[in-house]
Amino acid sequence: MNSSEKQRPLSAAAAAEVLRWWAEAGVDLALDETAHDRFTESAAPPPRHVPRDAAAPEASRSRDADVRGLRPESAPPRVIESRTPVTVAAPDEAALSAREIAAGAKTLDELRAALERFDGCGLRATATQLVFADGAPGASVMLVGEAPGGDEDRIGRPFVGRAGQLLDRMLAAIELDRRQVYIANVVPWRPPGNRTPTPQETSVCLPFIRRQIALAAPRLLVCLGGSATQTLLGVKDGITRARGVWRDYVGDDGETIKALAMFHPAYLLRTPAAKRQAWRDLRELRRVLDEIGVPSPRERGEG
Ligand code: URA
Repeated sequence: MNSSEKQRPLSAAAAAEVLRWWAEAGVDLALDETAHDRFTESAAPPPRHVPRDAAAPEASRSRDADVRGLRPESAPPRVIESRTPVTVAAPDEAALSAREIAAGAKTLDELRAALERFDGCGLRATATQLVFADGAPGASVMLVGEAPGGDEDRIGRPFVGRAGQLLDRMLAAIELDRRQVYIANVVPWRPPGNRTPTPQETSVCLPFIRRQIALAAPRLLVCLGGSATQTLLGVKDGITRARGVWRDYVGDDGETIKALAMFHPAYLLRTPAAKRQAWRDLRELRRVLDEIGVPSPRERGEG
């Protein structure tokens, strides 16, 4: 680009084209034109949340459709005012305080309240709200996904979009529903544009989901997708190799919980051929539930 091209102002139509091009390329959030040192800005007032409804018509896009190559029509990027800096603690400091804060929560309600206040993860500033959990705390089965998508971010509950509806049908196939399971995500805030959480975001959130698992104390843990499987079970393999095998999830107190990795329902929406293996995994989950004496509603005379 020569200097005369650099200075020529864009027409409104050309600027709109550029925005559309960015949006199609996956950029849905413009923080500012210049890089900022967020650490030195951390003394500034807390970030202002931009209401999604007003500023982000794309907020209802489903993470599942989006991330996994089924991106619907993109809306122009949302702009967060540069005068309201996002305050995020330095990574090491954030991970350290996450561990302390999570360990200090004695109940799930306390943990939720602590997460509401926690400002060590930048995703909190761009998400509409915390997506903590759904289902029955104390249920025998806990399912954990990667991070909320657009629908979850808007509604405030995990797995309520298209993938969540498929998850409900999968659970129904083995006579379970949300009253008999507890559902959460490794990362409880929606990453902008439904991107994959960064390793740093995941590690800052990890003490919280580990504490959530400890406090919910399920008999069985189901990791939905490769991300939850690798993060919680320390598995290096991809989900295609890792799924369908029981492993031990080891809690902070050294207690173990039997854990099964399964395909993420969003992957199944895109890859219907994988449903055969998912069905096998669901049957395995039902078999072990029967073995440990967790009856289906039908067996309890409720179905
Ligand atoms: N995908 C996830 O991993 N979690 C949700 O809550 C929704 C979609």
